[in-house]
Amino acid sequence: MILLFCGLSGAGKTTLAKNVATELTELGVRTEIIDGDEYRSEICRDLGFSKADRCENIRRLGFVASRFSAHGIVTIVSAINPYEEMRRELTEKYDHVNVVHIDCPVKQLISRDTKGLYKKAFLPDGHPDKLKNLTGINARFDVPYEPDLYINTSESTVQESTSSLLYFILNNLHPVEPVKYKAAN
Ligand code: ADX
Repeated sequence: MILLFCGLSGAGKTTLAKNVATELTELGVRTEIIDGDEYRSEICRDLGFSKADRCENIRRLGFVASRFSAHGIVTIVSAINPYEEMRRELTEKYDHVNVVHIDCPVKQLISRDTKGLYKKAFLPDGHPDKLKNLTGINARFDVPYEPDLYINTSESTVQESTSSLLYFILNNLHPVEPVKYKAAN
């Protein structure tokens, strides 16, 4: 099972992924988190934030997720994942993909600004530190058309959000199917 998170920077994706992974592990459910920031510092180091690079990023994360998921590991892809077309591509390509929209009003993200990214996006044009393509401010985020799960982190506590995610996962777990290997030719 793949949980395809999507949501703006600072909405709470990483916190929720870690919390639910801890709870699942305690229940004996094997879990893996594929985190955008982490993969961008390793196998996606060559990618930036253009549309093409973000799509390639999600394609790579989705592929890795599919390998974990095929072994029955609950796999959380925690990335902004801004484009509906990419989410649809992965949903159609792999089995048991669930889109989870982690939402939070932009106003609140701007006031939290844990990484200082929003401040940089609002710098005047021409400023050397200005961030020109921050998702939700000056780059596109497609609100998911019909997410499998919607969580608004400004309206519920971390514990409540974690519980609704945990409940969703436990209710949608699939039995492990044998992995079929095909020789490359
Ligand atoms: S995605 O758009 O390709 O899905 P991903 O989740 O991997 O993005 O990476 C987002 C992270 O990159 C953010 O949490 C933030 O730390 C960092 N980042 C740096 N520049 C940007 C930007 N212009 N837009 C969004 N995130 C950025």
